[in-house]
Amino acid sequence: MKIHKINNTLLQLVAVLEDGQCHDGTTIGKKLKITRSAVWKLIEKLRRYHIKIISIKGKGYLLTEPLILLNVNNIKKILKNKNIDIALFESIDSTNNFLKKCTYQETLKICLAEYQAEGRGRLQRKWHSPFAQNMYFSCLWSFQKDISALSGLSLVIGLVIAHVINSYHLENKALVKWPNDVLCQDKKIAGNLIELEAESNGLSRAIIGIGINVNMISAGTNIIPKPWTSLRLEKNEYIDRNKLVALLIDTLSSYLKNFEQHGISYFLTEWEHNDYLAGKTISLQGAANKIQGIMKGINEQGHLKLLLCDGSTQTFSSGDTSVVKFNS
Ligand code: BTN
Repeated sequence: MKIHKINNTLLQLVAVLEDGQCHDGTTIGKKLKITRSAVWKLIEKLRRYHIKIISIKGKGYLLTEPLILLNVNNIKKILKNKNIDIALFESIDSTNNFLKKCTYQETLKICLAEYQAEGRGRLQRKWHSPFAQNMYFSCLWSFQKDISALSGLSLVIGLVIAHVINSYHLENKALVKWPNDVLCQDKKIAGNLIELEAESNGLSRAIIGIGINVNMISAGTNIIPKPWTSLRLEKNEYIDRNKLVALLIDTLSSYLKNFEQHGISYFLTEWEHNDYLAGKTISLQGAANKIQGIMKGINEQGHLKLLLCDGSTQTFSSGDTSVVKFNS
């Protein structure tokens, strides 16, 4: 898999076309200081990524759908915390894979991509990652803690995502579904994939991968196994992902600092207020078996509490949850 850093000229071309007007190749070429044929090549590149661009004879090129690309300078302008290293790729296998190869550094390291060829979800699932539509985000965070103290991290990341999505004031609030999903109106809008690594001296680091469906309105011929939605579908407007990333980075840093200091217990009330499964009859699929019960929230370790049919309450540290539907 070839990794491509985002090309500045591509960013400039899309910035010209962003207004939805028709622009001819010669004028674009002059603005970008490239030839007409180089403009055409970039247009073809965008088309290969399934971006719809019409060519009108004698007039030029026109985007049929809104498109704003990610731009590190624009993100940094909005960010509160400026001491951050952002690597942005036009295409990559997986943003999590990229950060796994990075060595320790003082600053917070973020990896963003416009397209992931091998985007990964939990439980070996694929994560559909069409070009420039959604958010494919990973962050490398070093903890001054042993890996065993990081239980509940994926729940905190779920809360971060829900907080960021809810700042868009959707009609249907985004809620967290144990252990790592964020749902809107019973449909998945985001998820996280955390990969933990133990370091020497009892320290650890986490690669925190976040996928948010932002502007996707159709999955084309791709099959997404569970019902899904996107911020654009919920809000009914095109979303500038640069603002979203900046908010995500600032929120993430602040939540991670609190998690590092106080652990998951600091977030229990917030979880309660945003728990999609609370009080529902759910099915928990573990590695070996499936169990049903009524969701009773989470405990001080972030483990799921289930009220079972024999009246006992048991806790579970892992598994995949789904709501049990009763025929009426
Ligand atoms: C899930 O809900 O199953 C987790 C989805 C996580 C997807 C993100 S997209 C950015 C990062 N890179 C990946 O390959 N996966 C995560």
